[in-house]
Amino acid sequence: MLELKNVRKSFGGLIAVNDVSFDLGDVGISGLIGPNGSGKTTLFHLISGFYKLDSGTISLKGEPISGLPPHAISQLGLSRTFQQTRVLPFLSTLDNLISAAPNQLGENLLPLFFMAKKVRQEEALNREKAMEILEQLKLSDLATLPAGDLSYGQQKLLELGRVLMADPALIILDEPTAGINPSLIRSLVTTLKQLRDKGIKIFLVEHNMPLVAELCEKIYVMDSGALIFSGSPEEVQGNKRVIEAYLGRDNNAA
Ligand SMILES: Nc1ncnc2c1ncn2[C@@H]1O[C@H](COP(=O)(O)OP(=O)(O)OP(=O)(O)O)[C@@H](O)[C@H]1O
Ligand SMILES: [Mg+2]
Repeated sequence: MLELKNVRKSFGGLIAVNDVSFDLGDVGISGLIGPNGSGKTTLFHLISGFYKLDSGTISLKGEPISGLPPHAISQLGLSRTFQQTRVLPFLSTLDNLISAAPNQLGENLLPLFFMAKKVRQEEALNREKAMEILEQLKLSDLATLPAGDLSYGQQKLLELGRVLMADPALIILDEPTAGINPSLIRSLVTTLKQLRDKGIKIFLVEHNMPLVAELCEKIYVMDSGALIFSGSPEEVQGNKRVIEAYLGRDNNAA
């Protein structure tokens, strides 16, 4: 699905991602963990095209994607959410989803005039899809509220919903549960499992270790920019190098 070969990125003298290689394969949910500042978010920015690689290659379903801009990568089936939540606060919850649908005919003036019926059909389909996603995320009751009125956790769910509008093959999520309350975490976990069961691959960064162990079939560990370990949740827990990475610095995330 997603393959990285010798991926490298530095900021000035700091090597944030150092020669990282791995292949997600056919795993349903994979996790990426590591102490603060170990390069996880930078790696996700590289995968999704928000940062340019210094060297190395990234491919999706066998096709190289490194060097492509984020929207092109998302059209190929890889979508992401951010560590910082991004919704459009003044639009309603429902319109936040509708506006996230790709290739909207109505955005261009010409089709709007000459294919008005097609535009309306597309809008109706997108609306229907948005309603289904709201249902799945249990946000239907909030459909007409401005997204800015939703709680932080609900906005995070909505952000996931915006990603789902693009029918992704692979979703990457940076700290999806950070700052959200336990009941919303459970509903997010249920949603992620449902998506996995539908065949959507998921790759997530998460500091909540019990959750990582519950969700992820395979776990990757970064420390100081390097990939230091990959394996099952059981293997990771007992690994000396992983434990040292967490204990070796002032970090309460472990
Ligand atoms: N745009 C940037 N410019 C300069 N340095 C950066 C930039 N982005 C990240 N860094 C540095 O790169 C290193 C890796 O940061 P990154 O955000 O990828 O870590 P992380 O593993 O996501 O950490 P956290 O768990 O705290 O989110 C850090 O030392 C960080 O300060
Ligand atoms: Mg981060």
